[in-house]
Amino acid sequence: MNAKKNKTLLKKPKYNILFVSSELHPFAKTGGLGDVSSSLPKALKALKQDIRVLIPAYPFAIEKAASIKHVATINLPESGFPGQLGLSTQPGEIRSVAILETKLPGSHVKVWMIESEIYNRSGTPYSDENNNEWEDNDFRFALLNYIAVEIAMGRASLEWLPDVVHGNDWQAGLIGVLLEQEHSESQKRPATVFTIHNMAHMGIYSRERFDALELEAHLWNHHELEFHDDFSFIKGGLVFSDRVNTVSPTYAEEIQSEEFGYGLSGLLTYRNERLSGILNGIDMKEWNPAKDPHIKKNYSIKSLSQKHKNKIALQSHFNLPRKKKTLLLGLVARLVYQKGIDLLLENMEEILQLPVQIAILGSGDLELESRLRCWTTRYPDKIQIQLGYDESLSHLIEAGSDAFLMPSRFEPCGLNQLYSLRYGTIPIVRETGGLADTVTHASKENLSNHTATGIVFLESKGSTILDAINLASLLYQNKTIWQKLMVNGMKQEFSWKESARQYLKLYTQAIKDRDKYKKHAPVF
Ligand code: ADP
Ligand code: GLC
Repeated sequence: MNAKKNKTLLKKPKYNILFVSSELHPFAKTGGLGDVSSSLPKALKALKQDIRVLIPAYPFAIEKAASIKHVATINLPESGFPGQLGLSTQPGEIRSVAILETKLPGSHVKVWMIESEIYNRSGTPYSDENNNEWEDNDFRFALLNYIAVEIAMGRASLEWLPDVVHGNDWQAGLIGVLLEQEHSESQKRPATVFTIHNMAHMGIYSRERFDALELEAHLWNHHELEFHDDFSFIKGGLVFSDRVNTVSPTYAEEIQSEEFGYGLSGLLTYRNERLSGILNGIDMKEWNPAKDPHIKKNYSIKSLSQKHKNKIALQSHFNLPRKKKTLLLGLVARLVYQKGIDLLLENMEEILQLPVQIAILGSGDLELESRLRCWTTRYPDKIQIQLGYDESLSHLIEAGSDAFLMPSRFEPCGLNQLYSLRYGTIPIVRETGGLADTVTHASKENLSNHTATGIVFLESKGSTILDAINLASLLYQNKTIWQKLMVNGMKQEFSWKESARQYLKLYTQAIKDRDKYKKHAPVF
């Protein structure tokens, strides 16, 4: 092959990508989706892709934008999808939406925010301040899908057309559905990629809501949107997208089983040739112990001895006794079933008999919150919790803890164990999803061949969270072994570089599949 031809073959593709999400750090974040929606587009931008991120203009998102400008107005149809739900309380209010443009801080990634009354509420992207989900979330996110399609088909006067629309989680599940209804001779629809960050949230709504949204009636069948007499947004993403992926190889396997597939494992297995798992990376600038502005003392692999100053700061923050030699366990999470908080609670009495302290930051399920609070009253010198969301404290916990707890029942990828590895904080994880793919257990063999990075447990393999914490507290007594674990972890590759390249390949495959199949494959 001559050199010129070789060079052409090696040339990276350059795509226009519309990335659609309900969360985007630092504008709107409840969990890892917010982090990924910010760090993956930045990594793709570094690979010279033209990527734009589309999110709703929540008031707390607009507030955080340094500068923002109006770039387009999109009129909504008088009838047809996305229906009249949003109009029922204030007739005539939602006739059009505005597109506001800003940038992701510290980058040149353009962000488009959809401004509409329906998003103008305080709270989180999904619920009010008391954690009650908005009843019209189906309409709110249907609107996100509708606007994505208007932009994708060049009907938004933005003078930009995507080659690929990349939707994330159920909130973007209808994009592929809507794009397949486009039949313009003059303009091909873009290819679609759908990423599952969490199968447990499926966007399930009733037939009544389906009708109110004015989705086309023929979509109501169990090969397409219908799901056990209701319909599901995520199913739309799984059936209609050219390519489907999730955020770790193990989770891509797990969701094809009944246990993790929530009734859609058959569909995922059927589509498995177009299903893949790509591990998340992390934002190497935001999560860098050497430069992190949120922590007490910066440190790196070369100055590990400084890390303990963060431990003291963390103990002070939580009013825990400042004991240098007591193993301090950190936990930052949405306090929900997924995160295995019940496993921790069930074993708490025994865990607190060990020479450990526990510092928790989180919020979520009220019962889990109050059960955790009970333990802080009984053992205030050993366990403390701060309820709520606190970005800055989450960094200090990563830096100041000796080990980090992630006993998740399932974990599509998980980012905190990656932050922990980078911060020399030993992750203690249950062997599932992305946790299984990113943490190597401190077995004798792995310790001696220098691959061990954390502690991994799984009840069916005969070890519990109590055994795992017990092992951590034993290993912690041996400074050499503990330091080795820290260093092994800190040397891992966490950046988005490789994963962003895999996304590029996925986009190329999606474009090929769109051209090859034209229509989604019928489900048996
Ligand atoms: P998930 O997306 O399932 O919540 P991940 O591990 O992928 O889990 O990501 C969680 C992200 O949310 C991390 O960046 C974590 O630090 C952050 N986070 C979770 N709860 C809180 C909280 N209460 N305060 C601050 N950050 C939080
Ligand atoms: C989800 C998952 C989490 C993953 C995150 C980002 O919220 O629960 O495991 O890391 O999305 O992909």
